[in-house]
Amino acid sequence: MRVGVVGTGYVGLVTGTCFADSGNTVTCLDINADKIARLNRGEIPIYEPGLEELVERNVRAGRLKFTTDTAAAISGAEVVFLAVGTPPAADGSADLSALWRVVESIAPHLHPQAVIVTKSTVPVGTCAGIEQRLKAALGRDCRVASNPEFLKEGAAIEDFQKPDRVVVGVRSADVGEVLRTLYSPFLRTENPFLVMSPESSEMTKYVANALLATKISFINEVANLCERMEADIDDVRRGIGHDSRIGFAFLFPGAGYGGSCFPKDVQALAAMARDKGVSPRILTAVHETNLAQKQVLGEKIATHFGGRLTGTRVAIWGLAFKPRTDDVRDAPAIDLIERLLAGGAVVSVYDPEAMANVRGVYGDRITYAADPYEAIDRADCLAIVTEWGDFRRPDFDEMARRMASRTIFDGRNLYAPAEMKSRGFAYHAIGKTPV
Ligand SMILES: NC(=O)c1ccc[n+]([C@@H]2O[C@H](COP(=O)([O-])OP(=O)(O)OC[C@H]3O[C@@H](n4cnc5c(N)ncnc54)[C@H](O)[C@@H]3O)[C@@H](O)[C@H]2O)c1
Repeated sequence: MRVGVVGTGYVGLVTGTCFADSGNTVTCLDINADKIARLNRGEIPIYEPGLEELVERNVRAGRLKFTTDTAAAISGAEVVFLAVGTPPAADGSADLSALWRVVESIAPHLHPQAVIVTKSTVPVGTCAGIEQRLKAALGRDCRVASNPEFLKEGAAIEDFQKPDRVVVGVRSADVGEVLRTLYSPFLRTENPFLVMSPESSEMTKYVANALLATKISFINEVANLCERMEADIDDVRRGIGHDSRIGFAFLFPGAGYGGSCFPKDVQALAAMARDKGVSPRILTAVHETNLAQKQVLGEKIATHFGGRLTGTRVAIWGLAFKPRTDDVRDAPAIDLIERLLAGGAVVSVYDPEAMANVRGVYGDRITYAADPYEAIDRADCLAIVTEWGDFRRPDFDEMARRMASRTIFDGRNLYAPAEMKSRGFAYHAIGKTPV
């Protein structure tokens, strides 16, 4: 099939590349000329494991192209995926301005039989809105579908090629069949292809993310309680996780959830509820609990140093909102850096992939270390914010030699407290009594 993808971010680039890899001819369109120029030079603007090789292979095979030319990307496409950003507006609702601009700009170039598919996470009713706008612009009905994306950054290729399920929202069975054909190479292991209305499909994406975020905020609240009750969150987690009704997934306490999806999608669903006169009590609590959780590491550090951070040397391991990505959007590390700088601390950071993105925000207000050990040189404490594999089994002797004070605030519970104590570290984990 001939496929057009609008927006070459984390979702659009992975979507376009994976469809090209399954034999389709794909043109990816973006308004960011610099991004397109880099892609055309063979540079991948984001870090996503496995993506570079896959892009290179499909560009070489002539199946994958990048352009800023709307007509070139859209006019021949049988299916057009919309994968532009839908960031939060000031009131928490999804800002659809980029999406509407795209709808307007692609309309004159659409083939009459083209299927226009929202891959972006969009509020319920957006498909219907696109149908109306296209009808107003073109004077005819267009085939519009919803196909939310469930990939996880850091495992995006694997998730796209082996999805747990594919959800499509369509008004007619034939549009569902077009999408089933496109996805069929990824459904060979009988993963479900779920066909529903666009409204249910749009809702499904928000509900999935909101439920996962709810689990995280729930376990974080429980972890904070454990600290005050001399209970250990890991024991409690095991105690509940073996209950087959509960399970272990997404019940790890930490420094709060971040990224470009959970924070904005929880708020957008809450805004949709308010818009319908429904009070989103759980969603509001999930969001507020998370905002508070992102402050926990900073609070613990400030308390440890008697409220005086001026001149305190704090090292941070991990900046990305999770491992195996360079994405720092809404990352807990950003909240921590803000707090530390506001208190006058001297901050040194290390992340295997996300340093450039953080440098773009903080410039020379913080120090960027070449490796984890350089970051902790003469540090008064270390805060661990992202659970990169690199940090799981460090050289503790080297750490002890480098640090001015052997003090660790672990926002991801990477180490065993007893071992840290025996090695002479003061170790503060989440949901555990400090040692
Ligand atoms: N990142 C994820 O893990 C993830 C997962 C599932 C769903 N989503 C959803 O997918 C959507 C995209 O997310 P993302 O992380 O890929 O965003 P992103 O910010 O990485 O990429 C968006 C891209 O769209 C481009 N763009 C903006 N306006 C445009 C226009 N008028 N014409 C062409 N291109 C335009 C931008 O230049 C950018 O390259 C969002 O709705 C998000 O919620 C994201």
